[in-house]
Amino acid sequence: MLIQNGTIITDKSSIKADLRIKDGIITEIAANLIPESNEEIVNAGGMLVMPGGIDVHTHMDLDVGIARATDDFYTGTVAAACGGTTTIVDHLAFGPEGCSIRHQLDHYHTLAEGKAVIDYSFHGVIGHVDDAILKEVEELVGEGITSHKFYLTYGQKLTDREFFLLMRKAKELGIMLTVHPENHDMVGCLKELLIEQGKTSPIYHAVSHPVESEAEAINRLILFAHVADDAPLYIVHLSCEMGLDYIRQARQRGQKNLFAETCPQYLVLDESRYREPGDAGLKYIMSPPLRTTKDNQALWLGLQDGSIQTVATDHCPFFLKGEKQLGKDNFAKTPNGAPGVEPRMALLFSEGVSAGRIDAQRYVEITSTNPAKLFGLYPRKGTLEKGSDGDILIVDPSVELTLTHGMLHENVDYTPYEGISLRGYPYMTISRGKIVAKEGCFLGEKGSGKFIKRNLPILRNIR
Ligand code: URP
Ligand code: ZN
Ligand code: ZN
Repeated sequence: MLIQNGTIITDKSSIKADLRIKDGIITEIAANLIPESNEEIVNAGGMLVMPGGIDVHTHMDLDVGIARATDDFYTGTVAAACGGTTTIVDHLAFGPEGCSIRHQLDHYHTLAEGKAVIDYSFHGVIGHVDDAILKEVEELVGEGITSHKFYLTYGQKLTDREFFLLMRKAKELGIMLTVHPENHDMVGCLKELLIEQGKTSPIYHAVSHPVESEAEAINRLILFAHVADDAPLYIVHLSCEMGLDYIRQARQRGQKNLFAETCPQYLVLDESRYREPGDAGLKYIMSPPLRTTKDNQALWLGLQDGSIQTVATDHCPFFLKGEKQLGKDNFAKTPNGAPGVEPRMALLFSEGVSAGRIDAQRYVEITSTNPAKLFGLYPRKGTLEKGSDGDILIVDPSVELTLTHGMLHENVDYTPYEGISLRGYPYMTISRGKIVAKEGCFLGEKGSGKFIKRNLPILRNIR
């Protein structure tokens, strides 16, 4: 394949050039490449040619006990591909209490294999810590599982002692730990009190998960990671300024290996959504909840100044007219999570690059290069270089449209971003040299995505 006439954007440069892919691998990037016979030509005139998006926070087919996320590895990756994403790193769900990571990993291989249409990997999940788990964490490095997720809330949350032991192990091995930070007891008490008072509508989901709960957990994790000799720590779905302040201060104090991710919902939506009429507020029940417009702005600043390094989605869809109705009389019974894997790249391009908040190189860095580095995929993924996989997103920056649920491929009955005006939209997505989506149509093949064995993270010079 020869991609001609585009502007090639990486985190480091922006150049007018052509790009050649052979057998799925980038072989040449130079001006005026001469087409070879039988070569597929893509004309990217007027468009931006970038590394495909990498979404390191998805929950395909997640079983949350009361419901199951409605995108599986086929529908979810079709949606991702149509939105410009070429790799996901999905999260293993908790298994039976006390089970091994292997138990869940084997299960997830069966969920994804033969279904995923783009490349994928998994974060391990850690619901308890003992010698066997610490040994497993070490063994799994050889299988390309070089990151693990733990939670400070939900059923199998870790204690401070457990995550401290885990952090020491992560530091020894050089692997990444990712964490959902919330103060479980604070949220639990607030939920009980609110329900007792009959405060059951969706806005009370936000009231029961205050920023202090998230910020306290973030600060606790930062301090423990520091004592564990600056163990690699990646805070997922950062939603608030107060949490960001703790992260920024720690980085300014010189703490190393500390990283943060935010998500489009925390950049472009705010808590007023919970007051939408009828049952519509249920659409936005996710943890952490949507915050204020001041928090939105603070997170954009964090992306600009390098305090936040990635934007992922936390894609975890449930039908409004289906699973979300479990919470119609009590917000606390709603399955948590929302869709977003498809519009991430477009939302970030429009609200970020077209709106002048970040430039195109920073866009590539936070949506692809940094995720690839932090999760052991770089330089195979996350850049456009000779030898990298031919995973490409071509964006047409001139397209103007209004985002609607009808345009998307996510297996769910709404998008939280309905009606948002966009400037710039994915024109084409290419996975290892094959066109998988063009102008909103899926052109790929079920099962063509491969499990990617990941290397250890690159931790230096990430901003
Ligand atoms: O509400 C959310 N975010 N659901 C998905 C699981 C998680 O906490 O990341
Ligand atoms: Zn979470
Ligand atoms: Zn999540």
